[in-house]
Amino acid sequence: MTDLIKTGVIGHPISHSKSPLIHNYWIEMYQLNGQYGAIDIAPEYLKDGVQKLIDDGYAGFNVTVPHKQAIMELCHEVDDLASQVGAVNTVNIRNGLLYATNTDVFGFTENLKNAARNFGFSWSPDLGPAVVLGAGGAAKAVVHGLLRENVPEIIITNRTKEKALEFVALDPSIIKVIDWDNRSDVLNTANLLVNTTSVGMNGAGDLEMDFSRANEDMLVHDIVYAPLYTDLLKAAREHDLRILTGIGMLLYQAQPAFEDWYDTFVEITPGLEELVLS
Ligand code: ATR
Repeated sequence: MTDLIKTGVIGHPISHSKSPLIHNYWIEMYQLNGQYGAIDIAPEYLKDGVQKLIDDGYAGFNVTVPHKQAIMELCHEVDDLASQVGAVNTVNIRNGLLYATNTDVFGFTENLKNAARNFGFSWSPDLGPAVVLGAGGAAKAVVHGLLRENVPEIIITNRTKEKALEFVALDPSIIKVIDWDNRSDVLNTANLLVNTTSVGMNGAGDLEMDFSRANEDMLVHDIVYAPLYTDLLKAAREHDLRILTGIGMLLYQAQPAFEDWYDTFVEITPGLEELVLS
């Protein structure tokens, strides 16, 4: 038997995290000698908590709220993508040093591409503008993903417009900002609509999108996955638009980290999706 490979997710609080379910599913499915735990580390103990993981011989860990930015200063190396996004969600430990990356961008784009492949969507990044609702941490990963896929135009709209305007510098020729009140006016030409706001999470709030004049080929994607079918997706479906839930992004962001730590290619199966949604 190979040595036990220890991994986990750090956050505060951490009990809500779905990551242990996902990683332990793969550990079992591929019969690996591994463990993936949920590790609660309060912000004031971040340095000590992470040192303990190093001392305990961890191969790496995922990072969630509130440590996604703070972890950077403890890292020996933060790769370009995580630096650009301004957030880390995956850390590898090698020779006692921390190497950080961000797999949320991969999770977002891979989910979209997979949906296009599997469900026969005609969505492809070059077909037209993408509209992004929100300008918080999740929007950063989404916008970087869209830029990497060469989407020709990205229209960002956020309740607090100033936060959306901060994105323009990433690529002023591609990124445009519109007022939150006008968010439905651009749907007639959009190829993709992505909700990155927390509206709709646990059924709270309503984005009040007007899909009546939306481009009939538009794909509506909500990265919120609890509930799986948010009010936004339900409204889109009522207008016969194609929809994509947020569960795939969660599953795909886990994949590269797991493959790195356990040196094993893993599949995202319907069984895994069911488990995470149960
Ligand atoms: P995350 O890291 O999940 O993106 P965040 O950085 O706190 O979390 O961002 C939350 C996003 O949801 C923001 O775009 C926020 O808009 P503001 O920048 O105006 O706060 C958006 N949001 C939250 N509640 C909202 C609401 N009731 N209506 C519209 N947007 C909302």
